[in-house]
Amino acid sequence: MAISSSCLRGLVISLLLLAGAFPTSQAQDTCTTSIYDAVSSTPELSKLKTVIELAGLKDTFSDKSLEITALAPNDSGFSKLETALASMNLTLQDTVTPDNKAASILLYHGIPNPVLSKDLQNGATISTLLTGYNLTVDTANGPKFVTPVNSASVVTADIKVCKSVVHIISDVLLPANLVDIPNYNPPAAPAPQPAECTTSLYDAVTATKELEQLKTVIDAAGLKNTFSDKSLEITVLGPNNKAFENLVAVLASMNLTLADTISPDNKAASILLYHGIPSPLLSTDLKNGTSVSTLLGTDYKLTVDTTNGVKFRSPVNFASVVTADVKVCKNVVHIIDAVLLPAQLSDIPNYVPPSASAPAPSPGATQQESIGNRLGSSAFAGFVATTATFIFSLA
Ligand SMILES: *[C@@H]1O[C@H](CO)[C@@H](O)[C@H](O)[C@H]1NC(C)=O
Ligand SMILES: *[C@@H]1O[C@H](CO)[C@@H](O)[C@H](O)[C@H]1NC(C)=O
Ligand SMILES: *[C@@H]1O[C@H](CO)[C@@H](O)[C@H](O)[C@H]1NC(C)=O
Ligand SMILES: *[C@@H]1O[C@H](CO)[C@@H](O)[C@H](O)[C@H]1NC(C)=O
Ligand SMILES: *[C@@H]1O[C@H](CO)[C@@H](O)[C@H](O)[C@H]1NC(C)=O
Repeated sequence: MAISSSCLRGLVISLLLLAGAFPTSQAQDTCTTSIYDAVSSTPELSKLKTVIELAGLKDTFSDKSLEITALAPNDSGFSKLETALASMNLTLQDTVTPDNKAASILLYHGIPNPVLSKDLQNGATISTLLTGYNLTVDTANGPKFVTPVNSASVVTADIKVCKSVVHIISDVLLPANLVDIPNYNPPAAPAPQPAECTTSLYDAVTATKELEQLKTVIDAAGLKNTFSDKSLEITVLGPNNKAFENLVAVLASMNLTLADTISPDNKAASILLYHGIPSPLLSTDLKNGTSVSTLLGTDYKLTVDTTNGVKFRSPVNFASVVTADVKVCKNVVHIIDAVLLPAQLSDIPNYVPPSASAPAPSPGATQQESIGNRLGSSAFAGFVATTATFIFSLA
């Protein structure tokens, strides 16, 4: 008898729901109704809506991607709680401030997966969104949820809200005596982002005509992904096209091309990393004589020289800033007029990609086609001297 009357009641309510009293998930694919929306549009859940808002969980229950079971105490359920609180000289507001036990109570009404009433097993223990606090199912006389301190009957079962299921229940379920209910700890809010970063350093370089050659070398050196990371917060010294032309000319005088700096040792990648400083530095942050580490490693530093404009000095050459303080999200780019070399070419470390799990070749390993072997160390000295002379002569 209880079952048939509750079935009839369910049917009537279902029809009401279909008539629009409660939003239904007609479009399965695009979910347009959140649990909060559904609660808001259901008159008998007006107090639940208020408590969700007071407890600061509106956003939580507005997430349309939720796939949970929400047990929704109707207004009579909240009235009973208010009466009980009043007998202790407390109001609902006192459950919110200062400890937000209200939020813990609400989370206790969430089951982390959608469960239809037909799937509720008598005696089953069900975990809730309030970690460490369970509910027990009692189906002896219609579905009922039992806590260590009270219980609630299902008034209206199986209301589908997108991928979630809502059961309206008769009482507010308490996970423990009020003083023992855990205080609510909101999940750490993500640090407020000033604005979402939509441009990577690679995007910025690609969009800058003066840095066309730099883009080509980034691509060839396999660092496109590295510089496409939108979460970077670094300084990039971007050699302009003229800087690369000068380098190419010097290489050509030694029968080398840029390609020889990439294959086989990818010294080009190491050179590019030498143009990255691991924090964003505006020109106003640059003090004369300061030594800054680079992405190539703390052993490979650049020295700032502000004597006449801003220059970065390596142990073997230098570059002047031609355009300072180009902001790319949280990064700073300074366009420079020369390709900075961290060391003589033979001493520039080979590039080891971060993902490479294989051990790096030992320093003594034979590098058959390495630039060092092709030219010999005296030729390198010549190369660096020539580069330096060439670049210095531009200054
Ligand atoms: C509630 O407050 C009233 C008036 O302030 C007081 O007389 C009563 O003892 C209090 N009751 C409880 C349960 O604290
Ligand atoms: C809650 O239920 C889970 C299984 O559903 C069980 O592992 C856990 O020990 C229970 N926790 C408490 C506090 O009863
Ligand atoms: C809540 O549910 C109980 C139990 O079915 C019912 O008696 C009461 O009228 C309901 N209250 C509201 C506001 O719908
Ligand atoms: C460059 O190559 C040319 C022709 O192969 C050769 O004559 C010249 O000596 C080479 N120069 C250097 C610096 O290796
Ligand atoms: C900058 O530092 C260099 C030495 O690192 C020094 O020779 C030069 O005079 C300094 N310039 C200024 C403007 O202080």
